[in-house]
Amino acid sequence: MKIDNITTLYESHPFVRRQNQEFGLMELPYTRQALEPHMSRDTIDLHYGKHHQTYVDNLNKFVAGTEYENMNLRDIVKNSHENNRSVFNNAAQNLNHILFWNCMSPSKVNMPETLEETLVNELNSIDEARGKFIDLGLKQFGSGWVWIVKKDGGLDIVNTPNGVNPIVFGQEPILGADVWEHSYYVDYKNDRKTYLETFWDELVNWDYVNLQLQQA
Ligand SMILES: [Fe+2]
Repeated sequence: MKIDNITTLYESHPFVRRQNQEFGLMELPYTRQALEPHMSRDTIDLHYGKHHQTYVDNLNKFVAGTEYENMNLRDIVKNSHENNRSVFNNAAQNLNHILFWNCMSPSKVNMPETLEETLVNELNSIDEARGKFIDLGLKQFGSGWVWIVKKDGGLDIVNTPNGVNPIVFGQEPILGADVWEHSYYVDYKNDRKTYLETFWDELVNWDYVNLQLQQA
């Protein structure tokens, strides 16, 4: 996939930097069946078509007439955290899923050298980074996310519960995997481990992650 076919600027994404009256559901950078066999069309129909759409619809409903109405998505997430649970959950889940969909590619992408070097410098080895990412994804009890984040001038791997996005802690996510059951149950049943291994090994668009590293 050509990099300019995908959302290259997470920060300036039109659904992040709000340009319309209402938020819309982002367009996927691939067709709904493009991630098969690793992520099925059924999962995308449910996860993107129903769950993500519902977050967008609820966000529009909950910000109407509030102080958040004219903020961009990132500011809504930061400002509503611990202040307005309904707005926060739906805004953060919209932001989380924008990163998640963009972080995947229909064809396997090799990790660019600059990203590999940075990960090795920060997290000892790619195997260790992969292991920590999968481990923290598995340890996230119930619903949540696992991320690679820019933090304190370096990189780290962290998990968050429910819809929490690391930007509320001053960390900038460059890769995120959804570990809510709706992300893997159709294809992997309760096997979150195989889902996370497949995500890292087959689905991640490392060019996009590298771009986030440069820009975040
Ligand atoms: Fe999700």
